[in-house]
Amino acid sequence: MTDTALFPLSDEHKMILDAARDFAQSEIAPIAAEYDETGKFPSDTIKAMGEMGFMGIEVPEVYGGAEMDTLAYVLALEEICKADASHGTIMSVNNSLYCHGILKFGTEEQKKKFVTPVASGEAVGAYSLTEPMSGSDAATMRSRALRDGDEYIINGRKSWVTGGPVADYVVVYVVTDPDKGAKGITAFIVDANHPGFVRGKKEPKMGIRASATSEIVFEDYRCPVENRLGEEGEGFKIAMTVLDVGRIGIASQALGIAEASYDAAIDYAREREAFGKKIGQFQGNSFKLADMKTRIEAARLLVYNAAMAKERSKTTGERFTLAASTAKLFASETAMFCAHASVQIHGGMGYSKEYPVERYFRDAKITEIYEGTSEIQRLVISRLETGLR
Ligand code: CAA
Repeated sequence: MTDTALFPLSDEHKMILDAARDFAQSEIAPIAAEYDETGKFPSDTIKAMGEMGFMGIEVPEVYGGAEMDTLAYVLALEEICKADASHGTIMSVNNSLYCHGILKFGTEEQKKKFVTPVASGEAVGAYSLTEPMSGSDAATMRSRALRDGDEYIINGRKSWVTGGPVADYVVVYVVTDPDKGAKGITAFIVDANHPGFVRGKKEPKMGIRASATSEIVFEDYRCPVENRLGEEGEGFKIAMTVLDVGRIGIASQALGIAEASYDAAIDYAREREAFGKKIGQFQGNSFKLADMKTRIEAARLLVYNAAMAKERSKTTGERFTLAASTAKLFASETAMFCAHASVQIHGGMGYSKEYPVERYFRDAKITEIYEGTSEIQRLVISRLETGLR
């Protein structure tokens, strides 16, 4: 049930929701366990998702996208993540961290050249902020870009790049002026097929294993000035602005995982018997199911609220940081709560790879970590509310 009294869906929303649900259940759900096991990047289904418009849902048609609104984006992402969070991560990064950043801060040339192939699913985009020694404290990064005529020479090591092993283009954040802290960081769009771009160690992850994550090493990578995103020193603000959008995507992903966990728990509680009853008749389980459902519906309202706040910002220009962070915090903790409860209701079967809840449990954990940990979301929310730092 995705239509709520607060957020009634238009015909267009229902259309994309149905299309995403059909595709997710028929094309993604049957292969999810295999791709989780092998960690192989699902190139074919990602390409097909691009053809359906899922890789650039809010991107204008002129740049290869589907030109729909933010609610359409979160509805589709939620459905994809119900089937497989790995596909969802790839979709989220391409739509928000990559396409949105270039659409908002890029030049006309950059939009044509770098958004079009990614929004249409022909190429994969990535976002690279984190480094081995700077995760939550992102502004302390060390990778450097030095201006040399019409180019910048980039050196350094970035880590935890979603799509790193396969990406065609990456928006990377590096230091151009080390004396200026956060105001000395600049964003660049780099082409992965250019000399000096080296794909580093692939991360052996607990979950979302098919969404290929690796380090990227820059060895005297020459980036033309026209591929700088925004002005020198604007990079940190761009990174944070874009993360507000990314966090809405992760919140939708978490909602999808929570729903998948809940649906599996309901089915199992209805069918499995113990002590002469369906296990859903025991209060220990039925109360768990009620708590899961309540948290899911609360998370849904926060996620859709954040989508609407972002949609409004297209005309008002207002930030929607609070809506994005509250949605991400609550939805990711709901995903973990629901996956944990679902495994528990499944008992031994929940610990087996023969049932998908074991994967949901591993996938749910990352939503409390990437694109800002739950602790960082609490810091962002409390700073905004108190005005204190
Ligand atoms: N929108 C616009 N501007 C923002 C902003 C936002 N949401 N948040 C901060 N800024 C601006 C501030 O206004 C400030 O600018 P002024 O000085 O001009 O006012 C500037 O950015 C610096 O802000 P802070 O002083 O608040 O910066 P900070 O160093 O204290 O850091 C932080 C704040 C919230 C902790 C931030 O570092 C943060 O979000 N950390 C987490 C990073 C993160 O989420 N990393 C995940 C990377 S992606 C990933 O996980 C992998 C993947 O591929 C998916």
